[in-house]
Amino acid sequence: MVFAIEDSPVYMMGAFDLMTWLVESKDQIEAVFPTGAGVPWSDHTSCFFCAVARFFRPDYHNNLVSNWLSALDGVVENLQRGAKVADVGCGHGWSTVIMAKAFPNSLFIGYDFHPNSIEHAAAHAREHGVTANTRFEIATAKGYPEKDFDLVAFFDCLHDMGDPAGAAAHVRRSLKPDGCWMIIEPMASDKLEDNLNPVGAFTMRARQWGACRPRCRRKSVPRSARRPARSVSARSSPRAAFAVSGALPRRRST
Ligand SMILES: C[S@@+](CC[C@H](N)C(=O)[O-])C[C@H]1O[C@@H](n2cnc3c(N)ncnc32)[C@H](O)[C@@H]1O
Repeated sequence: MVFAIEDSPVYMMGAFDLMTWLVESKDQIEAVFPTGAGVPWSDHTSCFFCAVARFFRPDYHNNLVSNWLSALDGVVENLQRGAKVADVGCGHGWSTVIMAKAFPNSLFIGYDFHPNSIEHAAAHAREHGVTANTRFEIATAKGYPEKDFDLVAFFDCLHDMGDPAGAAAHVRRSLKPDGCWMIIEPMASDKLEDNLNPVGAFTMRARQWGACRPRCRRKSVPRSARRPARSVSARSSPRAAFAVSGALPRRRST
Protein backbone atom coordinates (compact mmCIF):
# COMPACT_ATOMS: atom_id res chain seq x y z
CA MET A 1 0.00 0.00 0.00
CA VAL A 2 2.86 2.37 0.76
CA PHE A 3 4.92 1.69 -2.37
CA ALA A 4 2.68 0.27 -5.08
CA ILE A 5 -1.02 1.10 -4.70
CA GLU A 6 -1.40 4.66 -5.94
CA ASP A 7 -4.94 5.09 -4.61
CA SER A 8 -4.04 3.89 -1.12
CA PRO A 9 -4.38 6.58 1.59
CA VAL A 10 -0.84 5.74 2.75
CA TYR A 11 0.82 5.70 -0.69
CA MET A 12 4.13 7.48 -0.05
CA MET A 13 6.05 7.50 -3.33
CA GLY A 14 5.33 11.21 -3.73
CA ALA A 15 7.10 11.83 -0.42
CA PHE A 16 10.20 10.04 -1.74
CA ASP A 17 10.04 12.17 -4.90
CA LEU A 18 9.84 15.29 -2.75
CA MET A 19 12.84 14.18 -0.70
CA THR A 20 14.83 13.63 -3.91
CA TRP A 21 13.88 17.11 -5.02
CA LEU A 22 14.87 18.60 -1.64
CA VAL A 23 18.32 17.03 -1.87
CA GLU A 24 18.73 18.23 -5.46
CA SER A 25 17.73 21.78 -4.47
CA LYS A 26 20.10 22.04 -1.52
CA ASP A 27 22.61 24.34 -3.27
CA GLN A 28 19.87 26.55 -4.69
CA ILE A 29 18.22 27.03 -1.29
CA GLU A 30 21.54 27.48 0.53
CA ALA A 31 22.46 30.27 -1.89
CA VAL A 32 19.39 32.37 -1.13
CA PHE A 33 19.04 31.52 2.56
CA PRO A 34 21.39 34.22 3.94
CA THR A 35 19.66 37.03 2.05
CA GLY A 36 16.10 35.68 2.03
CA ALA A 37 15.96 36.43 -1.68
CA GLY A 38 13.69 33.46 -2.41
CA VAL A 39 13.33 31.10 -5.35
CA PRO A 40 10.52 31.57 -7.89
CA TRP A 41 8.36 28.63 -8.96
CA SER A 42 9.83 28.72 -12.44
CA ASP A 43 13.35 28.00 -11.07
CA HIS A 44 12.42 24.69 -9.47
CA THR A 45 13.28 21.49 -11.25
CA SER A 46 10.33 20.10 -13.19
CA CYS A 47 10.39 17.04 -10.94
CA PHE A 48 9.19 19.21 -8.07
CA PHE A 49 5.75 19.81 -9.58
CA CYS A 50 5.30 16.12 -10.40
CA ALA A 51 6.38 15.24 -6.86
CA VAL A 52 3.88 17.65 -5.30
CA ALA A 53 1.07 16.25 -7.45
CA ARG A 54 2.01 12.65 -6.62
CA PHE A 55 2.29 13.46 -2.92
CA PHE A 56 -1.18 15.03 -2.58
CA ARG A 57 -3.22 12.94 -5.02
CA PRO A 58 -3.87 10.00 -2.60
CA ASP A 59 -5.20 12.43 0.01
CA TYR A 60 -7.57 14.00 -2.52
CA HIS A 61 -8.64 10.61 -3.85
CA ASN A 62 -9.51 9.39 -0.35
CA ASN A 63 -10.86 12.53 1.30
CA LEU A 64 -11.89 15.30 -1.00
CA VAL A 65 -15.39 14.13 -1.92
CA SER A 66 -16.13 11.81 1.00
CA ASN A 67 -14.85 13.95 3.88
CA TRP A 68 -13.94 17.51 2.99
CA LEU A 69 -16.73 18.64 0.64
CA SER A 70 -19.33 16.77 2.64
CA ALA A 71 -18.27 18.69 5.76
CA LEU A 72 -19.48 21.93 4.18
CA ASP A 73 -23.16 22.84 4.61
CA GLY A 74 -25.13 22.34 1.39
CA VAL A 75 -22.08 22.25 -0.89
CA VAL A 76 -22.41 18.63 -2.06
CA GLU A 77 -26.11 19.13 -2.86
CA ASN A 78 -25.23 22.25 -4.82
CA LEU A 79 -22.51 20.40 -6.74
CA GLN A 80 -24.91 17.58 -7.55
CA ARG A 81 -27.44 20.06 -8.95
CA GLY A 82 -24.82 21.98 -10.93
CA ALA A 83 -22.41 24.58 -9.53
CA LYS A 84 -19.58 26.72 -10.82
CA VAL A 85 -16.26 25.99 -9.09
CA ALA A 86 -12.76 27.49 -9.20
CA ASP A 87 -9.78 25.37 -8.12
CA VAL A 88 -7.13 28.05 -7.57
CA GLY A 89 -3.45 27.00 -7.54
CA CYS A 90 -4.63 23.70 -9.04
CA GLY A 91 -1.14 22.52 -10.01
CA HIS A 92 -1.40 19.28 -11.98
CA GLY A 93 -5.15 19.35 -11.49
CA TRP A 94 -5.85 16.15 -9.54
CA SER A 95 -8.26 17.87 -7.17
CA THR A 96 -10.10 19.40 -10.15
CA VAL A 97 -10.32 16.08 -11.99
CA ILE A 98 -11.55 14.21 -8.90
CA MET A 99 -14.30 16.77 -8.26
CA ALA A 100 -15.26 16.87 -11.95
CA LYS A 101 -15.66 13.08 -12.03
CA ALA A 102 -17.81 13.06 -8.90
CA PHE A 103 -20.03 15.96 -9.98
CA PRO A 104 -20.66 15.82 -13.75
CA ASN A 105 -23.37 18.54 -13.59
CA SER A 106 -20.91 21.11 -12.27
CA LEU A 107 -18.29 23.16 -14.09
CA PHE A 108 -14.72 23.20 -12.69
CA ILE A 109 -12.13 25.80 -13.71
CA GLY A 110 -8.56 25.14 -12.59
CA TYR A 111 -6.31 28.19 -12.34
CA ASP A 112 -2.56 28.25 -11.78
CA PHE A 113 0.15 30.73 -12.67
CA HIS A 114 2.60 27.97 -13.67
CA PRO A 115 2.03 27.23 -17.40
CA ASN A 116 3.60 23.78 -17.36
CA SER A 117 1.33 22.67 -14.50
CA ILE A 118 -1.73 23.87 -16.43
CA GLU A 119 -0.63 21.75 -19.41
CA HIS A 120 -0.33 18.69 -17.15
CA ALA A 121 -3.72 19.41 -15.59
CA ALA A 122 -5.41 19.59 -18.99
CA ALA A 123 -3.74 16.30 -19.98
CA HIS A 124 -4.99 14.62 -16.79
CA ALA A 125 -8.52 15.85 -17.54
CA ARG A 126 -8.30 14.31 -21.02
CA GLU A 127 -6.96 11.01 -19.67
CA HIS A 128 -9.79 10.81 -17.15
CA GLY A 129 -12.57 11.81 -19.55
CA VAL A 130 -13.67 15.00 -17.81
CA THR A 131 -12.99 17.59 -20.50
CA ALA A 132 -16.73 18.32 -20.82
CA ASN A 133 -16.95 19.92 -17.38
CA THR A 134 -13.39 21.16 -16.77
CA ARG A 135 -11.27 24.02 -18.05
CA PHE A 136 -7.71 24.96 -17.11
CA GLU A 137 -6.32 28.46 -17.42
CA ILE A 138 -3.09 30.25 -16.58
CA ALA A 139 -4.02 32.90 -14.02
CA THR A 140 -2.88 34.20 -10.67
CA ALA A 141 -4.90 33.90 -7.48
CA LYS A 142 -5.45 37.67 -7.55
CA GLY A 143 -6.20 37.89 -11.26
CA TYR A 144 -8.38 34.99 -12.40
CA PRO A 145 -11.08 36.53 -14.53
CA GLU A 146 -14.37 34.68 -13.94
CA LYS A 147 -16.92 35.62 -11.28
CA ASP A 148 -20.09 34.22 -9.71
CA PHE A 149 -18.53 31.07 -8.31
CA ASP A 150 -20.54 28.85 -5.96
CA LEU A 151 -17.32 27.38 -4.59
CA VAL A 152 -13.69 28.49 -4.71
CA ALA A 153 -11.17 25.91 -3.48
CA PHE A 154 -7.52 26.41 -2.53
CA PHE A 155 -5.69 23.10 -2.03
CA ASP A 156 -2.37 23.44 -0.25
CA CYS A 157 -1.48 26.70 -1.96
CA LEU A 158 -2.64 29.70 0.09
CA HIS A 159 0.55 29.49 2.16
CA ASP A 160 2.61 29.58 -1.08
CA MET A 161 1.21 32.91 -2.12
CA GLY A 162 3.17 36.10 -1.72
CA ASP A 163 0.02 38.07 -0.99
CA PRO A 164 -2.53 35.77 0.69
CA ALA A 165 -4.63 38.74 1.84
CA GLY A 166 -4.85 40.01 -1.75
CA ALA A 167 -5.85 36.52 -2.90
CA ALA A 168 -8.55 36.37 -0.20
CA ALA A 169 -9.98 39.72 -1.33
CA HIS A 170 -10.11 38.45 -4.91
CA VAL A 171 -11.86 35.26 -3.82
CA ARG A 172 -14.54 37.28 -2.08
CA ARG A 173 -15.12 39.39 -5.18
CA SER A 174 -15.37 36.28 -7.36
CA LEU A 175 -17.91 34.40 -5.19
CA LYS A 176 -21.68 34.54 -5.44
CA PRO A 177 -23.22 36.16 -2.34
CA ASP A 178 -23.94 32.71 -0.86
CA GLY A 179 -20.76 31.12 -2.24
CA CYS A 180 -18.17 29.28 -0.18
CA TRP A 181 -14.36 29.40 -0.02
CA MET A 182 -12.74 26.11 0.96
CA ILE A 183 -9.12 26.19 2.09
CA ILE A 184 -7.21 22.96 2.61
CA GLU A 185 -3.86 23.37 4.34
CA PRO A 186 -1.39 21.34 6.41
CA MET A 187 -2.29 21.64 10.09
CA ALA A 188 0.20 23.04 12.55
CA SER A 189 0.11 23.15 16.29
CA ASP A 190 0.57 26.51 17.95
CA LYS A 191 3.10 24.79 20.24
CA LEU A 192 6.51 24.13 18.71
CA GLU A 193 7.01 21.00 20.84
CA ASP A 194 3.94 19.37 19.27
CA ASN A 195 5.53 19.72 15.83
CA LEU A 196 8.84 18.11 16.77
CA ASN A 197 8.21 14.73 15.15
CA PRO A 198 9.07 13.10 11.79
CA VAL A 199 5.98 14.42 9.99
CA GLY A 200 6.63 17.94 11.27
CA ALA A 201 10.30 17.69 10.30
CA PHE A 202 9.63 16.66 6.72
CA THR A 203 6.24 18.05 5.76
CA MET A 204 6.44 21.29 7.64
CA ARG A 205 10.01 22.32 8.23
CA ALA A 206 11.94 20.81 5.29
CA ARG A 207 9.20 21.45 2.74
CA GLN A 208 8.31 24.84 4.22
CA TRP A 209 11.88 26.11 4.20
CA GLY A 210 12.94 24.32 1.02
CA ALA A 211 9.95 25.21 -1.12
CA CYS A 212 7.01 27.20 0.25
CA ARG A 213 8.86 29.93 2.10
CA PRO A 214 11.39 30.75 -0.65
CA ARG A 215 8.51 31.04 -3.13
CA CYS A 216 6.59 33.52 -0.96
CA ARG A 217 9.73 35.57 -0.62
CA ARG A 218 9.86 36.22 -4.35
CA LYS A 219 6.60 38.14 -4.44
CA SER A 220 6.51 41.93 -4.21
CA VAL A 221 4.21 42.25 -1.24
CA PRO A 222 4.43 44.12 2.06
CA ARG A 223 6.69 42.27 4.52
CA SER A 224 3.82 41.80 6.99
CA ALA A 225 1.74 39.93 4.40
CA ARG A 226 4.51 37.35 3.81
CA ARG A 227 4.07 35.67 7.19
CA PRO A 228 2.21 32.38 6.82
CA ALA A 229 -1.04 32.32 8.78
CA ARG A 230 -0.65 30.61 12.17
CA SER A 231 -2.85 27.71 11.22
CA VAL A 232 -0.95 26.85 8.06
CA SER A 233 2.63 27.05 9.19
CA ALA A 234 3.79 23.98 11.06
CA ARG A 235 1.56 21.22 12.29
CA SER A 236 2.14 17.52 12.21
CA SER A 237 -1.33 16.13 11.57
CA PRO A 238 -2.18 16.00 7.90
CA ARG A 239 -4.75 18.62 6.95
CA ALA A 240 -6.81 21.51 8.22
CA ALA A 241 -9.89 22.57 6.34
CA PHE A 242 -11.46 25.97 6.61
CA ALA A 243 -14.59 27.19 4.93
CA VAL A 244 -15.67 30.77 4.61
CA SER A 245 -19.21 31.37 3.45
CA GLY A 246 -20.47 34.34 1.52
CA ALA A 247 -22.63 35.35 4.47
CA LEU A 248 -19.67 37.47 5.63
CA PRO A 249 -19.83 41.20 4.82
CA ARG A 250 -18.62 41.72 1.28
CA ARG A 251 -16.56 44.60 0.01
CA ARG A 252 -17.17 45.89 -3.48
CA SER A 253 -14.44 45.66 -6.04
CA THR A 254 -13.17 49.08 -7.10
C1 LIG B 1 1.98 23.06 -3.31
S1 LIG B 1 1.33 23.32 -4.91
C2 LIG B 1 -0.30 22.60 -4.76
C3 LIG B 1 -0.84 22.26 -6.09
C4 LIG B 1 -2.23 21.61 -6.08
N1 LIG B 1 -3.24 22.48 -5.51
C5 LIG B 1 -2.18 20.32 -5.31
O1 LIG B 1 -2.72 20.27 -4.21
O2 LIG B 1 -1.56 19.35 -5.80
C6 LIG B 1 0.92 25.08 -4.92
C7 LIG B 1 0.41 25.55 -6.29
O3 LIG B 1 0.03 26.91 -6.16
C8 LIG B 1 0.41 27.58 -7.36
N2 LIG B 1 0.54 29.00 -7.01
C9 LIG B 1 1.37 29.55 -6.08
N3 LIG B 1 1.18 30.87 -6.00
C10 LIG B 1 0.19 31.17 -6.90
C11 LIG B 1 -0.46 32.38 -7.29
N4 LIG B 1 -0.14 33.53 -6.72
N5 LIG B 1 -1.42 32.32 -8.22
C12 LIG B 1 -1.75 31.13 -8.81
N6 LIG B 1 -1.17 29.95 -8.50
C13 LIG B 1 -0.22 29.98 -7.54
C14 LIG B 1 1.71 26.92 -7.78
O4 LIG B 1 2.02 27.10 -9.13
C15 LIG B 1 1.41 25.47 -7.40
O5 LIG B 1 0.87 24.75 -8.48
